[in-house]
Amino acid sequence: MTKLVVCPETDPTRPLLDTTDPAVITAHLAGIGVAFEQWRTSGPLPDSADQDAVLAAYASDVERIKAQGFGTVDVARLAGDLDDPAFLAKAAEARSKFLAEHTHADDEIRFFVEGSGAFYLRVGGSIHMIVCEAGDYIFVPKNTRHWFDMGTRPRFAAIRFFAIPEGWVGEFTGDPIASSFATYDELVGAGR
Ligand code: LAC
Ligand code: NI
Repeated sequence: MTKLVVCPETDPTRPLLDTTDPAVITAHLAGIGVAFEQWRTSGPLPDSADQDAVLAAYASDVERIKAQGFGTVDVARLAGDLDDPAFLAKAAEARSKFLAEHTHADDEIRFFVEGSGAFYLRVGGSIHMIVCEAGDYIFVPKNTRHWFDMGTRPRFAAIRFFAIPEGWVGEFTGDPIASSFATYDELVGAGR
Protein backbone atom coordinates (compact mmCIF):
# COMPACT_ATOMS: atom_id res chain seq x y z
CA MET A 1 0.00 0.00 0.00
CA THR A 2 1.27 3.49 -0.79
CA LYS A 3 2.54 5.10 2.37
CA LEU A 4 4.09 8.39 3.51
CA VAL A 5 6.14 8.77 6.68
CA VAL A 6 7.69 12.13 7.53
CA CYS A 7 10.37 12.51 10.20
CA PRO A 8 12.56 15.42 11.23
CA GLU A 9 15.93 14.98 9.52
CA THR A 10 17.50 15.05 12.97
CA ASP A 11 15.21 12.37 14.44
CA PRO A 12 14.43 9.27 12.37
CA THR A 13 12.46 7.82 15.32
CA ARG A 14 9.82 10.55 15.66
CA PRO A 15 7.30 10.55 12.79
CA LEU A 16 5.52 13.85 12.27
CA LEU A 17 3.13 12.19 9.82
CA ASP A 18 2.46 8.54 8.97
CA THR A 19 -0.36 7.95 6.50
CA THR A 20 -1.67 5.71 3.75
CA ASP A 21 -4.42 8.16 2.72
CA PRO A 22 -3.77 9.09 -0.93
CA ALA A 23 -5.42 12.50 -0.57
CA VAL A 24 -3.26 13.37 2.44
CA ILE A 25 -0.15 12.10 0.65
CA THR A 26 -0.90 14.15 -2.47
CA ALA A 27 -1.60 17.31 -0.48
CA HIS A 28 1.48 16.92 1.73
CA LEU A 29 3.78 16.34 -1.24
CA ALA A 30 2.25 19.26 -3.16
CA GLY A 31 3.24 21.39 -0.17
CA ILE A 32 6.91 20.53 -0.74
CA GLY A 33 6.75 20.97 -4.53
CA VAL A 34 6.47 17.27 -5.37
CA ALA A 35 3.67 16.19 -7.69
CA PHE A 36 2.07 12.88 -6.80
CA GLU A 37 -0.82 11.18 -8.60
CA GLN A 38 -2.36 7.74 -8.83
CA TRP A 39 -3.03 6.42 -12.31
CA ARG A 40 -4.68 3.24 -13.47
CA THR A 41 -2.44 0.27 -14.20
CA SER A 42 -3.04 -2.20 -16.99
CA GLY A 43 -2.68 -5.54 -15.21
CA PRO A 44 0.32 -7.74 -14.43
CA LEU A 45 3.40 -7.82 -16.62
CA PRO A 46 5.02 -11.16 -17.42
CA ASP A 47 8.65 -11.49 -16.25
CA SER A 48 9.59 -11.59 -19.91
CA ALA A 49 8.05 -8.18 -20.75
CA ASP A 50 10.78 -5.97 -22.20
CA GLN A 51 10.99 -2.19 -22.25
CA ASP A 52 9.02 -1.85 -25.47
CA ALA A 53 6.22 -4.05 -24.13
CA VAL A 54 5.98 -1.93 -20.95
CA LEU A 55 5.96 1.34 -22.90
CA ALA A 56 3.36 -0.02 -25.31
CA ALA A 57 1.07 -0.97 -22.42
CA TYR A 58 1.15 2.67 -21.23
CA ALA A 59 1.46 4.44 -24.57
CA SER A 60 -1.12 7.15 -23.92
CA ASP A 61 0.30 8.07 -20.49
CA VAL A 62 3.80 8.08 -21.93
CA GLU A 63 2.81 10.42 -24.77
CA ARG A 64 1.03 12.78 -22.37
CA ILE A 65 4.14 13.19 -20.17
CA LYS A 66 6.51 13.39 -23.12
CA ALA A 67 4.42 16.24 -24.48
CA GLN A 68 5.15 18.19 -21.28
CA GLY A 69 8.80 18.43 -22.32
CA PHE A 70 10.20 15.12 -21.12
CA GLY A 71 11.31 13.69 -24.42
CA THR A 72 13.34 10.71 -23.26
CA VAL A 73 11.68 7.68 -21.73
CA ASP A 74 12.92 4.33 -20.49
CA VAL A 75 11.89 1.57 -18.11
CA ALA A 76 13.75 0.57 -14.95
CA ARG A 77 12.71 -2.92 -13.99
CA LEU A 78 13.81 -5.56 -11.53
CA ALA A 79 11.88 -8.78 -11.82
CA GLY A 80 13.25 -12.23 -11.23
CA ASP A 81 13.29 -15.30 -9.09
CA LEU A 82 13.75 -14.28 -5.45
CA ASP A 83 15.03 -17.79 -4.67
CA ASP A 84 17.85 -17.42 -7.19
CA PRO A 85 21.10 -16.22 -5.55
CA ALA A 86 22.28 -14.79 -8.87
CA PHE A 87 19.18 -12.59 -9.11
CA LEU A 88 19.54 -11.48 -5.48
CA ALA A 89 23.18 -10.53 -6.09
CA LYS A 90 22.18 -8.48 -9.14
CA ALA A 91 19.40 -6.88 -7.09
CA ALA A 92 21.80 -6.01 -4.25
CA GLU A 93 24.09 -4.27 -6.70
CA ALA A 94 21.20 -2.34 -8.26
CA ARG A 95 19.88 -1.40 -4.82
CA SER A 96 23.24 0.03 -3.74
CA LYS A 97 23.37 2.52 -6.62
CA PHE A 98 20.92 5.12 -5.32
CA LEU A 99 20.86 4.22 -1.64
CA ALA A 100 22.93 7.25 -0.63
CA GLU A 101 21.75 10.86 -0.73
CA HIS A 102 22.08 12.46 -4.16
CA THR A 103 20.65 15.08 -6.48
CA HIS A 104 20.11 15.31 -10.23
CA ALA A 105 20.32 18.20 -12.69
CA ASP A 106 17.02 16.96 -14.17
CA ASP A 107 13.62 16.42 -12.59
CA GLU A 108 13.13 12.81 -11.46
CA ILE A 109 9.83 11.52 -12.82
CA ARG A 110 8.70 7.98 -12.22
CA PHE A 111 5.49 6.13 -12.95
CA PHE A 112 5.43 2.79 -11.13
CA VAL A 113 3.69 0.18 -13.25
CA GLU A 114 4.58 -2.84 -11.13
CA GLY A 115 5.74 -3.61 -7.61
CA SER A 116 7.06 -0.93 -5.27
CA GLY A 117 10.03 1.07 -4.03
CA ALA A 118 10.69 3.87 -1.54
CA PHE A 119 11.77 7.44 -2.20
CA TYR A 120 13.25 9.53 0.57
CA LEU A 121 13.09 13.26 -0.03
CA ARG A 122 15.03 15.70 2.13
CA VAL A 123 13.10 18.94 2.05
CA GLY A 124 12.53 21.67 4.62
CA GLY A 125 14.37 19.96 7.46
CA SER A 126 12.37 16.73 7.15
CA ILE A 127 12.76 13.38 5.45
CA HIS A 128 9.64 12.51 3.47
CA MET A 129 9.59 8.72 2.95
CA ILE A 130 7.21 7.55 0.26
CA VAL A 131 6.59 3.89 -0.50
CA CYS A 132 5.40 4.03 -4.11
CA GLU A 133 3.28 1.21 -5.51
CA ALA A 134 2.09 0.28 -8.97
CA GLY A 135 -0.10 3.13 -10.22
CA ASP A 136 1.86 5.87 -8.43
CA TYR A 137 3.30 8.77 -10.39
CA ILE A 138 5.85 11.01 -8.69
CA PHE A 139 7.64 14.14 -9.90
CA VAL A 140 10.65 15.15 -7.83
CA PRO A 141 12.06 18.54 -8.85
CA LYS A 142 15.68 18.76 -9.95
CA ASN A 143 18.27 19.43 -7.24
CA THR A 144 16.09 17.85 -4.52
CA ARG A 145 18.23 15.84 -2.12
CA HIS A 146 16.91 12.28 -2.11
CA TRP A 147 17.68 8.57 -2.13
CA PHE A 148 15.82 5.44 -3.22
CA ASP A 149 15.52 1.98 -1.68
CA MET A 150 14.06 -0.94 -3.65
CA GLY A 151 14.52 -3.36 -0.73
CA THR A 152 16.50 -6.57 -0.45
CA ARG A 153 13.92 -8.60 -2.41
CA PRO A 154 12.99 -6.11 -5.12
CA ARG A 155 10.30 -6.35 -7.68
CA PHE A 156 9.27 -3.23 -9.52
CA ALA A 157 9.02 -1.56 -12.88
CA ALA A 158 8.98 2.20 -13.30
CA ILE A 159 8.72 4.28 -16.42
CA ARG A 160 11.27 7.10 -16.21
CA PHE A 161 10.96 10.42 -18.01
CA PHE A 162 13.86 12.78 -18.68
CA ALA A 163 14.10 16.31 -20.04
CA ILE A 164 17.91 16.48 -20.15
CA PRO A 165 19.96 13.67 -21.65
CA GLU A 166 22.25 12.37 -18.86
CA GLY A 167 20.36 14.52 -16.34
CA TRP A 168 19.67 11.36 -14.37
CA VAL A 169 23.31 11.00 -13.35
CA GLY A 170 23.45 11.11 -9.56
CA GLU A 171 25.52 13.78 -7.86
CA PHE A 172 26.22 12.25 -4.48
CA THR A 173 26.29 14.67 -1.56
CA GLY A 174 28.54 12.51 0.63
CA ASP A 175 26.16 12.97 3.55
CA PRO A 176 25.58 9.60 5.27
CA ILE A 177 22.06 10.61 6.40
CA ALA A 178 20.36 7.79 4.47
CA SER A 179 21.84 5.16 6.75
CA SER A 180 19.99 6.65 9.76
CA PHE A 181 16.52 6.18 8.28
CA ALA A 182 14.27 3.14 7.95
CA THR A 183 15.08 0.92 4.99
CA TYR A 184 12.44 -0.12 2.47
CA ASP A 185 12.21 -3.50 4.20
CA GLU A 186 11.59 -1.78 7.53
CA LEU A 187 9.06 0.66 6.08
CA VAL A 188 6.90 -2.04 4.55
CA GLY A 189 7.50 -4.57 7.34
CA ALA A 190 5.70 -7.81 6.79
CA GLY A 191 3.22 -6.02 4.55
CA ARG A 192 5.11 -6.72 1.36
C1 LAC B 1 17.29 7.54 -9.35
C2 LAC B 1 16.52 7.24 -8.16
C3 LAC B 1 16.00 5.95 -8.05
O1 LAC B 1 18.03 8.47 -9.31
O2 LAC B 1 16.68 8.12 -7.15
O3 LAC B 1 17.12 6.80 -10.35
NI1 NI C 1 17.67 9.94 -7.91
